[in-house]
Amino acid sequence: MEDNWKMQTKAIHIGTTLSPQDVSPPVHMANTFIFESAEQAAHAFEYEDQPIYTRWGNPTTEIMERKIAALEGGEAAIATAPGMAAVSAALLAIVSSGDHIVATTGLYSGTHHFITDDLPRFGVHATLARADDPGAFEAAVRPNTRVIYLESPGNPTLMMNDLAAIGEIARAHNILTIVDNTFATPVNQRPIKLGIDVVVHSATKFLGGHGDAIGGAVVGSAAMIERIKKGPIRRFGGCISPFNAWLIARGISTLPLRMERHNQNALQVAQWLGNHTKVAWVRYPWHPDHPQADLARRQMVGGGGGVVVFELKGGYDAGVRLMDHVVLCARTVSLGDVRTLLTHPASTTHHSLGQEVRAASGITDGLIRLAVGLEDVEDIIADLDKALVGAP
Ligand SMILES: Cc1ncc(COP(=O)(O)O)c(C=O)c1O
Repeated sequence: MEDNWKMQTKAIHIGTTLSPQDVSPPVHMANTFIFESAEQAAHAFEYEDQPIYTRWGNPTTEIMERKIAALEGGEAAIATAPGMAAVSAALLAIVSSGDHIVATTGLYSGTHHFITDDLPRFGVHATLARADDPGAFEAAVRPNTRVIYLESPGNPTLMMNDLAAIGEIARAHNILTIVDNTFATPVNQRPIKLGIDVVVHSATKFLGGHGDAIGGAVVGSAAMIERIKKGPIRRFGGCISPFNAWLIARGISTLPLRMERHNQNALQVAQWLGNHTKVAWVRYPWHPDHPQADLARRQMVGGGGGVVVFELKGGYDAGVRLMDHVVLCARTVSLGDVRTLLTHPASTTHHSLGQEVRAASGITDGLIRLAVGLEDVEDIIADLDKALVGAP
Protein backbone atom coordinates (compact mmCIF):
# COMPACT_ATOMS: atom_id res chain seq x y z
CA MET A 1 0.00 0.00 0.00
CA GLU A 2 2.75 2.47 1.02
CA ASP A 3 4.45 2.21 -2.38
CA ASN A 4 1.33 3.55 -4.08
CA TRP A 5 0.93 6.56 -1.81
CA LYS A 6 1.62 9.97 -3.20
CA MET A 7 4.36 12.11 -1.74
CA GLN A 8 2.50 14.13 0.91
CA THR A 9 0.86 10.94 2.29
CA LYS A 10 4.25 9.22 2.42
CA ALA A 11 5.80 12.24 4.14
CA ILE A 12 3.19 12.08 6.91
CA HIS A 13 2.72 8.36 7.41
CA ILE A 14 5.82 6.43 6.44
CA GLY A 15 8.07 5.55 9.34
CA THR A 16 5.86 7.13 11.99
CA THR A 17 5.44 4.29 14.43
CA LEU A 18 2.98 5.26 17.16
CA SER A 19 2.06 3.86 20.54
CA PRO A 20 -1.68 2.95 20.67
CA GLN A 21 -2.99 6.32 21.90
CA ASP A 22 -0.40 8.71 20.49
CA VAL A 23 -1.04 10.90 17.50
CA SER A 24 2.61 11.95 17.45
CA PRO A 25 5.65 9.74 18.11
CA PRO A 26 7.61 10.16 21.35
CA VAL A 27 11.25 11.29 21.34
CA HIS A 28 13.46 8.40 22.44
CA MET A 29 16.00 10.47 24.35
CA ALA A 30 17.91 7.39 25.46
CA ASN A 31 21.56 6.86 24.65
CA THR A 32 21.29 3.13 25.32
CA PHE A 33 18.54 0.55 25.83
CA ILE A 34 17.89 -2.00 28.57
CA PHE A 35 18.12 -5.72 27.81
CA GLU A 36 15.93 -8.22 29.67
CA SER A 37 18.83 -10.64 30.03
CA ALA A 38 22.48 -11.10 29.15
CA GLU A 39 21.34 -13.56 26.51
CA GLN A 40 19.13 -10.91 24.93
CA ALA A 41 22.06 -8.47 24.84
CA ALA A 42 24.19 -11.06 23.06
CA HIS A 43 21.33 -11.72 20.63
CA ALA A 44 21.00 -7.96 19.95
CA PHE A 45 24.69 -7.72 19.08
CA GLU A 46 24.51 -10.80 16.89
CA TYR A 47 21.42 -9.79 14.87
CA GLU A 48 21.03 -6.02 15.49
CA ASP A 49 17.26 -6.46 15.51
CA GLN A 50 16.59 -4.15 18.47
CA PRO A 51 17.88 -0.80 19.76
CA ILE A 52 21.33 -1.11 21.40
CA TYR A 53 23.09 2.24 21.59
CA THR A 54 22.09 5.50 19.92
CA ARG A 55 25.34 5.89 17.95
CA TRP A 56 24.30 2.61 16.31
CA GLY A 57 20.66 3.57 15.84
CA ASN A 58 17.62 4.91 17.67
CA PRO A 59 13.85 4.43 17.18
CA THR A 60 13.24 8.19 16.71
CA THR A 61 16.11 8.51 14.26
CA GLU A 62 14.63 5.60 12.31
CA ILE A 63 11.45 7.59 11.72
CA MET A 64 13.43 10.31 9.98
CA GLU A 65 15.42 7.71 8.05
CA ARG A 66 12.40 5.85 6.77
CA LYS A 67 10.70 9.07 5.66
CA ILE A 68 13.68 10.40 3.73
CA ALA A 69 14.37 7.00 2.12
CA ALA A 70 10.74 6.81 0.97
CA LEU A 71 10.69 10.33 -0.45
CA GLU A 72 13.99 9.89 -2.30
CA GLY A 73 12.95 6.43 -3.54
CA GLY A 74 16.00 4.74 -2.00
CA GLU A 75 16.11 1.35 -0.27
CA ALA A 76 17.46 2.81 2.97
CA ALA A 77 18.78 5.97 4.63
CA ILE A 78 20.99 6.94 7.54
CA ALA A 79 20.52 10.17 9.45
CA THR A 80 23.64 12.08 10.44
CA ALA A 81 24.56 14.88 12.84
CA PRO A 82 24.83 17.73 10.34
CA GLY A 83 24.91 17.60 6.54
CA MET A 84 28.72 17.57 6.55
CA ALA A 85 28.62 14.22 8.40
CA ALA A 86 26.46 12.87 5.55
CA VAL A 87 28.87 14.19 2.91
CA SER A 88 32.00 12.93 4.67
CA ALA A 89 30.53 9.56 5.74
CA ALA A 90 29.29 8.78 2.22
CA LEU A 91 32.69 9.55 0.71
CA LEU A 92 34.71 7.86 3.46
CA ALA A 93 32.68 4.68 3.06
CA ILE A 94 33.66 4.51 -0.62
CA VAL A 95 37.19 5.84 -1.09
CA SER A 96 40.55 4.49 0.05
CA SER A 97 44.07 5.82 -0.24
CA GLY A 98 45.09 5.91 -3.91
CA ASP A 99 41.55 6.51 -5.19
CA HIS A 100 40.44 9.45 -7.30
CA ILE A 101 37.23 11.51 -7.21
CA VAL A 102 35.70 13.59 -9.97
CA ALA A 103 33.71 16.40 -8.35
CA THR A 104 31.61 19.19 -9.77
CA THR A 105 32.64 22.83 -9.61
CA GLY A 106 30.36 25.01 -7.51
CA LEU A 107 30.23 22.85 -4.40
CA TYR A 108 29.17 24.05 -0.96
CA SER A 109 32.41 25.33 0.61
CA GLY A 110 32.52 22.71 3.39
CA THR A 111 32.27 19.91 0.81
CA HIS A 112 34.81 21.63 -1.44
CA HIS A 113 37.33 21.82 1.42
CA PHE A 114 36.68 18.21 2.48
CA ILE A 115 37.32 16.94 -1.05
CA THR A 116 40.22 19.22 -2.00
CA ASP A 117 41.97 19.80 1.37
CA ASP A 118 41.12 16.95 3.76
CA LEU A 119 40.90 13.84 1.56
CA PRO A 120 44.27 14.50 -0.17
CA ARG A 121 45.92 14.13 3.29
CA PHE A 122 44.72 10.51 3.19
CA GLY A 123 45.88 9.88 -0.38
CA VAL A 124 42.56 10.56 -2.13
CA HIS A 125 42.77 13.17 -4.87
CA ALA A 126 40.11 14.95 -6.88
CA THR A 127 39.65 16.61 -10.25
CA LEU A 128 36.96 19.27 -10.56
CA ALA A 129 34.77 19.15 -13.66
CA ARG A 130 32.66 22.06 -14.92
CA ALA A 131 29.16 21.67 -13.47
CA ASP A 132 27.36 22.26 -16.78
CA ASP A 133 29.50 20.04 -19.01
CA PRO A 134 28.86 16.26 -18.72
CA GLY A 135 31.76 15.72 -21.17
CA ALA A 136 34.14 17.29 -18.65
CA PHE A 137 33.19 14.57 -16.15
CA GLU A 138 33.96 11.83 -18.64
CA ALA A 139 37.26 13.49 -19.59
CA ALA A 140 38.29 13.69 -15.92
CA VAL A 141 37.75 9.97 -15.24
CA ARG A 142 40.94 8.01 -14.51
CA PRO A 143 41.45 4.27 -14.02
CA ASN A 144 41.42 4.83 -10.23
CA THR A 145 38.28 7.04 -10.15
CA ARG A 146 35.88 5.56 -7.60
CA VAL A 147 33.20 8.20 -7.35
CA ILE A 148 31.68 11.17 -9.15
CA TYR A 149 30.47 13.73 -6.62
CA LEU A 150 27.73 16.18 -7.65
CA GLU A 151 25.67 18.98 -6.14
CA SER A 152 22.67 20.10 -8.13
CA PRO A 153 21.63 22.88 -7.98
CA GLY A 154 24.95 24.03 -6.53
CA ASN A 155 25.30 26.31 -3.54
CA PRO A 156 25.17 29.22 -4.28
CA THR A 157 25.51 29.40 -8.07
CA LEU A 158 22.43 27.22 -8.77
CA MET A 159 24.36 25.66 -11.66
CA MET A 160 23.13 22.17 -12.39
CA ASN A 161 24.65 18.81 -13.19
CA ASP A 162 22.87 16.71 -15.80
CA LEU A 163 22.23 13.78 -13.45
CA ALA A 164 20.97 11.28 -16.06
CA ALA A 165 23.88 11.97 -18.44
CA ILE A 166 26.56 11.88 -15.73
CA GLY A 167 24.97 8.79 -14.16
CA GLU A 168 25.28 7.02 -17.50
CA ILE A 169 28.94 8.01 -17.85
CA ALA A 170 29.62 6.73 -14.35
CA ARG A 171 27.91 3.40 -14.96
CA ALA A 172 29.88 2.89 -18.18
CA HIS A 173 33.08 3.25 -16.12
CA ASN A 174 31.80 1.30 -13.11
CA ILE A 175 31.99 4.39 -10.89
CA LEU A 176 29.57 5.30 -8.08
CA THR A 177 27.72 8.62 -8.12
CA ILE A 178 26.74 10.81 -5.17
CA VAL A 179 24.56 13.90 -5.45
CA ASP A 180 23.84 16.52 -2.82
CA ASN A 181 20.09 17.08 -3.21
CA THR A 182 19.79 19.70 -0.44
CA PHE A 183 18.68 22.59 -2.66
CA ALA A 184 16.18 20.67 -4.79
CA THR A 185 14.76 18.25 -2.18
CA PRO A 186 13.05 15.04 -3.35
CA VAL A 187 9.88 17.03 -3.98
CA ASN A 188 11.52 18.72 -6.96
CA GLN A 189 14.22 16.29 -8.05
CA ARG A 190 14.63 12.51 -7.63
CA PRO A 191 18.28 11.65 -8.38
CA ILE A 192 17.94 7.89 -7.71
CA LYS A 193 15.24 7.67 -10.37
CA LEU A 194 17.66 9.38 -12.74
CA GLY A 195 20.32 6.73 -12.13
CA ILE A 196 22.33 8.26 -9.27
CA ASP A 197 23.53 5.79 -6.60
CA VAL A 198 23.67 7.86 -3.42
CA VAL A 199 21.88 11.04 -2.29
CA VAL A 200 23.13 13.25 0.54
CA HIS A 201 21.34 16.07 2.34
CA SER A 202 21.90 18.85 4.73
CA ALA A 203 18.62 18.21 6.57
CA THR A 204 19.36 21.46 8.41
CA LYS A 205 17.80 23.18 5.38
CA PHE A 206 14.48 22.33 3.69
CA LEU A 207 13.95 18.85 5.23
CA GLY A 208 13.89 20.25 8.76
CA GLY A 209 12.57 23.47 7.33
CA HIS A 210 12.12 25.61 10.44
CA GLY A 211 15.59 26.92 11.22
CA ASP A 212 15.93 24.94 14.44
CA ALA A 213 17.45 21.50 13.92
CA ILE A 214 20.87 20.51 12.57
CA GLY A 215 21.02 17.24 10.68
CA GLY A 216 21.90 15.35 7.54
CA ALA A 217 21.05 12.17 5.68
CA VAL A 218 22.45 9.70 3.17
CA VAL A 219 20.09 7.64 1.00
CA GLY A 220 21.01 4.69 -1.19
CA SER A 221 20.92 0.91 -1.52
CA ALA A 222 20.52 -1.10 1.68
CA ALA A 223 24.07 -2.43 1.24
CA MET A 224 25.58 1.06 0.84
CA ILE A 225 23.72 2.45 3.87
CA GLU A 226 24.83 -0.55 5.95
CA ARG A 227 28.41 0.17 4.92
CA ILE A 228 28.12 3.84 5.94
CA LYS A 229 26.35 2.98 9.20
CA LYS A 230 28.79 0.31 10.33
CA GLY A 231 31.86 2.19 9.06
CA PRO A 232 32.14 5.98 9.25
CA ILE A 233 29.07 6.65 11.40
CA ARG A 234 29.85 4.15 14.15
CA ARG A 235 33.58 4.68 14.17
CA PHE A 236 34.12 8.35 13.31
CA GLY A 237 30.88 9.48 14.99
CA GLY A 238 28.40 11.77 13.31
CA CYS A 239 25.13 10.19 14.48
CA ILE A 240 22.23 12.60 14.90
CA SER A 241 20.67 13.51 18.24
CA PRO A 242 17.21 11.87 18.59
CA PHE A 243 15.68 15.27 19.34
CA ASN A 244 17.05 16.76 16.12
CA ALA A 245 15.86 13.65 14.26
CA TRP A 246 12.38 14.13 15.75
CA LEU A 247 12.29 17.78 14.66
CA ILE A 248 13.46 16.87 11.15
CA ALA A 249 10.98 13.98 10.85
CA ARG A 250 8.25 16.43 11.81
CA GLY A 251 9.62 18.89 9.25
CA ILE A 252 9.56 16.20 6.54
CA SER A 253 5.86 15.60 7.30
CA THR A 254 5.08 18.95 5.66
CA LEU A 255 7.93 19.02 3.12
CA PRO A 256 5.80 18.62 -0.05
CA LEU A 257 3.39 21.32 1.11
CA ARG A 258 6.18 23.68 2.10
CA MET A 259 8.15 23.10 -1.10
CA GLU A 260 5.10 23.92 -3.18
CA ARG A 261 5.01 27.34 -1.51
CA HIS A 262 8.82 27.80 -1.60
CA ASN A 263 8.69 27.02 -5.34
CA GLN A 264 5.84 29.45 -6.02
CA ASN A 265 7.27 32.27 -3.94
CA ALA A 266 10.81 31.89 -5.30
CA LEU A 267 9.63 31.84 -8.92
CA GLN A 268 7.60 34.99 -8.35
CA VAL A 269 10.48 36.76 -6.62
CA ALA A 270 12.86 35.69 -9.41
CA GLN A 271 10.46 37.07 -12.03
CA TRP A 272 10.13 40.34 -10.11
CA LEU A 273 13.91 40.67 -9.72
CA GLY A 274 14.38 39.84 -13.41
CA ASN A 275 12.19 42.81 -14.36
CA HIS A 276 13.73 45.26 -11.88
CA THR A 277 15.81 48.05 -13.40
CA LYS A 278 18.43 47.84 -10.63
CA VAL A 279 19.09 44.13 -11.10
CA ALA A 280 22.01 43.14 -13.35
CA TRP A 281 21.08 39.45 -13.56
CA VAL A 282 18.95 36.87 -11.81
CA ARG A 283 19.32 33.09 -11.76
CA TYR A 284 16.66 30.59 -10.72
CA PRO A 285 16.24 27.08 -12.15
CA TRP A 286 12.73 27.67 -13.49
CA HIS A 287 13.48 31.23 -14.71
CA PRO A 288 14.13 31.49 -18.47
CA ASP A 289 17.38 33.43 -17.85
CA HIS A 290 19.00 30.40 -16.18
CA PRO A 291 21.71 29.17 -18.58
CA GLN A 292 20.41 25.61 -18.10
CA ALA A 293 16.69 26.41 -18.06
CA ASP A 294 15.82 23.42 -20.29
CA LEU A 295 17.73 20.98 -18.07
CA ALA A 296 16.09 22.51 -15.00
CA ARG A 297 12.57 21.85 -16.31
CA ARG A 298 13.54 18.32 -17.32
CA GLN A 299 15.34 17.42 -14.12
CA MET A 300 13.65 19.47 -11.40
CA VAL A 301 10.20 18.31 -12.39
CA GLY A 302 8.48 19.42 -9.19
CA GLY A 303 9.66 23.03 -9.24
CA GLY A 304 12.70 25.29 -9.17
CA GLY A 305 13.21 25.21 -5.39
CA GLY A 306 13.36 27.97 -2.80
CA VAL A 307 16.64 29.70 -3.65
CA VAL A 308 17.18 32.61 -6.05
CA VAL A 309 20.53 34.29 -6.73
CA PHE A 310 21.06 37.68 -8.30
CA GLU A 311 23.40 40.61 -8.58
CA LEU A 312 22.54 44.30 -8.56
CA LYS A 313 23.89 46.68 -11.18
CA GLY A 314 25.92 48.37 -8.44
CA GLY A 315 27.64 45.00 -7.72
CA TYR A 316 29.08 44.36 -4.26
CA ASP A 317 28.36 47.83 -2.80
CA ALA A 318 24.74 47.79 -3.88
CA GLY A 319 24.31 44.21 -2.69
CA VAL A 320 25.53 44.87 0.83
CA ARG A 321 23.41 48.02 1.00
CA LEU A 322 20.37 45.94 0.07
CA MET A 323 21.26 43.43 2.77
CA ASP A 324 21.57 46.18 5.37
CA HIS A 325 18.17 47.65 4.53
CA VAL A 326 15.87 44.63 4.55
CA VAL A 327 13.53 44.36 7.52
CA LEU A 328 11.38 41.27 6.95
CA CYS A 329 14.14 39.20 5.31
CA ALA A 330 16.85 38.07 7.72
CA ARG A 331 20.61 38.17 7.16
CA THR A 332 21.88 34.67 7.92
CA VAL A 333 24.16 32.05 6.36
CA SER A 334 21.56 29.30 6.06
CA LEU A 335 18.54 28.55 3.87
CA GLY A 336 15.43 26.41 3.71
CA ASP A 337 13.63 28.15 6.56
CA VAL A 338 10.00 29.28 6.83
CA ARG A 339 11.37 32.83 6.81
CA THR A 340 13.19 34.50 3.96
CA LEU A 341 16.97 34.56 4.47
CA LEU A 342 19.59 36.64 2.66
CA THR A 343 23.27 35.75 2.36
CA HIS A 344 26.32 37.32 0.72
CA PRO A 345 28.33 34.14 -0.03
CA ALA A 346 31.62 35.78 -1.14
CA SER A 347 32.14 37.34 2.30
CA THR A 348 30.62 34.56 4.43
CA THR A 349 29.76 30.95 3.47
CA HIS A 350 32.19 30.81 0.52
CA HIS A 351 34.78 33.32 1.76
CA SER A 352 37.26 30.59 2.75
CA LEU A 353 37.45 29.31 -0.84
CA GLY A 354 39.40 32.38 -1.94
CA GLN A 355 38.78 34.63 -4.92
CA GLU A 356 40.21 32.28 -7.56
CA VAL A 357 38.04 29.25 -6.70
CA ARG A 358 34.98 31.46 -6.28
CA ALA A 359 35.53 33.05 -9.68
CA ALA A 360 36.05 29.64 -11.32
CA SER A 361 32.70 28.44 -10.06
CA GLY A 362 30.82 31.66 -10.82
CA ILE A 363 30.51 33.15 -7.32
CA THR A 364 30.88 36.83 -8.12
CA ASP A 365 31.59 39.39 -5.38
CA GLY A 366 28.16 40.93 -5.86
CA LEU A 367 26.16 37.67 -5.83
CA ILE A 368 23.31 37.66 -3.30
CA ARG A 369 21.65 34.40 -2.29
CA LEU A 370 18.01 34.76 -1.39
CA ALA A 371 16.40 31.75 0.31
CA VAL A 372 12.76 32.61 -0.22
CA GLY A 373 10.56 31.66 2.71
CA LEU A 374 6.89 30.88 3.14
CA GLU A 375 5.66 34.40 3.92
CA ASP A 376 3.08 36.04 1.64
CA VAL A 377 5.13 36.77 -1.44
CA GLU A 378 3.81 40.35 -1.69
CA ASP A 379 5.43 41.09 1.67
CA ILE A 380 8.80 39.61 0.63
CA ILE A 381 8.77 41.66 -2.58
CA ALA A 382 7.72 44.83 -0.74
CA ASP A 383 10.61 44.40 1.71
CA LEU A 384 13.14 43.95 -1.10
CA ASP A 385 11.63 46.82 -3.07
CA LYS A 386 11.93 49.18 -0.13
CA ALA A 387 15.51 48.07 0.57
CA LEU A 388 16.38 48.66 -3.11
CA VAL A 389 15.29 52.31 -3.01
CA GLY A 390 18.69 53.44 -1.78
CA ALA A 391 20.65 51.21 -4.16
CA PRO A 392 22.45 52.94 -7.03
C1 LIG B 1 24.41 22.07 -0.32
C2 LIG B 1 24.91 21.85 1.07
N1 LIG B 1 25.38 20.65 1.43
C3 LIG B 1 25.86 20.40 2.67
C4 LIG B 1 25.89 21.40 3.63
C5 LIG B 1 26.39 21.10 5.00
O1 LIG B 1 25.30 20.97 5.85
P1 LIG B 1 25.35 21.20 7.44
O2 LIG B 1 25.53 22.67 7.65
O3 LIG B 1 24.03 20.68 7.88
O4 LIG B 1 26.52 20.42 7.93
C6 LIG B 1 25.40 22.67 3.31
C7 LIG B 1 25.41 23.75 4.30
O5 LIG B 1 25.14 24.88 4.03
C8 LIG B 1 24.90 22.91 1.99
O6 LIG B 1 24.41 24.09 1.63
